[in-house]
Amino acid sequence: MTISTAAMLLSPLFLLLDATNALAAPKYNAAGELIAPKDYREWVFLSSGVNMNYSETPIGMDHAMVDNVFVDPVSWQAFKKTGRWPEGTTFVKESRVGSSKGSINKSGIFQTEERFDLEVHVRDSKRFKTGWGFFIHEADKPAKVLPANTSCYSCHITHGAVQTTFVQFYPTARPIAIKAGTFDRRK
Ligand code: HEC
Repeated sequence: MTISTAAMLLSPLFLLLDATNALAAPKYNAAGELIAPKDYREWVFLSSGVNMNYSETPIGMDHAMVDNVFVDPVSWQAFKKTGRWPEGTTFVKESRVGSSKGSINKSGIFQTEERFDLEVHVRDSKRFKTGWGFFIHEADKPAKVLPANTSCYSCHITHGAVQTTFVQFYPTARPIAIKAGTFDRRK
């Protein structure tokens, strides 16, 4: 088979990939608010953190907090090749109330159905000045982009190892970025 026939045979596949890419793009309503991603639990799982605290002062919580980070599968495919997050990349961090008392559990912490909130980080250079927007969805309601002076932006820009994202805490993404040379080791 010549290269051009191979390309012809493959082209419908590329069209299909393009179509999936369009599906993965973040969606906004007429007011410009982000629609909460519904199927993120079927996306690519990056990591969980238990009681993570980013400030010097301990947070006084009467329960454990567990977070789960997911990224949309189309952007993950691109990241695997380049170590960079493409336009449209959408991350979800869901926080869940953790518990240690339940069923047969004797020690350690498990996650409960009680979701605390849904935080979203989107790469969309057409809409956002820094190229990225942060959102907090209450329940699954549409959310306005958080203003550029909120701490979400400053902490992620200062400390995120790849394009303002915390790849240093995502064990399957970290080696890909290191290999691709996109990982900032100072962070
Ligand atoms: C003081 C630092 C800090 C601040 C402020 C902060 N974050 Fe993060 N964020 C982190 C860290 C660390 C992680 C990695 C979490 C993990 O490993 O589970 C993270 C991960 C995330 C992720 C997963 C994708 C990514 O970018 O790595 C989202 C979504 C997110 N944060 C949203 C927010 C939103 C929304 C705000 C503001 C309301 C915010 N963050 C404020 C430190 C911060």
